[in-house]
Amino acid sequence: MTVPNGPGRYVLFGHPVSHSWSPFIHGMFARQFDHVVDYKLKDVLPGNFRHAVINFFVEGGGGANVTLPHKPAAAEIVNDLSARAERARAVNTIVRRSATELYGENTDGIGLVTDLMRNLGVTLTGSRLLILGAGGATRGVLAPLLEQEPREVRIANRTPERARRISEEFSDLGEISASGFSEVDDRPWDIVINATAASLAGETPELPPRAIGRDTVCYDMAYGRGETAFMRWARERGSTRAFKGWGMLVEQAAESYLLWHGVRPETKTVVTALERL
Ligand code: ATR
Repeated sequence: MTVPNGPGRYVLFGHPVSHSWSPFIHGMFARQFDHVVDYKLKDVLPGNFRHAVINFFVEGGGGANVTLPHKPAAAEIVNDLSARAERARAVNTIVRRSATELYGENTDGIGLVTDLMRNLGVTLTGSRLLILGAGGATRGVLAPLLEQEPREVRIANRTPERARRISEEFSDLGEISASGFSEVDDRPWDIVINATAASLAGETPELPPRAIGRDTVCYDMAYGRGETAFMRWARERGSTRAFKGWGMLVEQAAESYLLWHGVRPETKTVVTALERL
């Protein structure tokens, strides 16, 4: 942990990474506490990742965030993993315990759960939850979602086999099933979370026509200016509760901030600032 108020160097490792809002978010957090925090982006190729991480911490780096495509590699580099990160087999936050001892956590899932429950007032407990996608994004959020004890979780994916594998891997944590998009129950789900990369390409899943109802909470883990393709798709199917992932982004960052600095920043003003972009 760094000393609050002391200067600290923090980075986000990714490839690509130039589009990231994390320096802006951590800058806003630091101002809340009068901390002096230097948070920079580091674009590193997969082949250089291990070397870059080790160098950064040997040279006194305070902590690191990790984004695509390095999250699984980060889980292999750290000396110790949280139970969540171990489950996800992915790390998005590295905490320096000493120059040679690094701890890995994954704050993506808790960020999503906090945004859904605290910011948006969504009830996860007892809900019927549909997750679209079966890649790293799904793996990163499944355990914290299941901790809230939804009644039923379905993972639907373009490649059903991948959904099946992930559901088997997490089956000890709750009631999970898997299928392709077209085979999901054709009645309104309580919550639909888009964890596919499809929205980024402007594509949307082929769900049965009644899977989205008026009250279905449709949450896109992707974010950006304006309405995402998934939000528009949800609205066109009648949902009045479509959201994108700014809140998740800010909440996962707040959890990283807490791990590094020992205090959890206020997030509402930061989410509002991003939504106004
Ligand atoms: P990430 O780590 O970001 O989740 P990933 O492991 O490549 O990345 O997974 C991307 C997810 O988006 C997968 O579920 C993928 O579906 P497949 O497993 O069938 O590849 C999904 N995806 C990507 N493009 C898609 C599209 N155009 N339509 C539907 N699903 C898509």
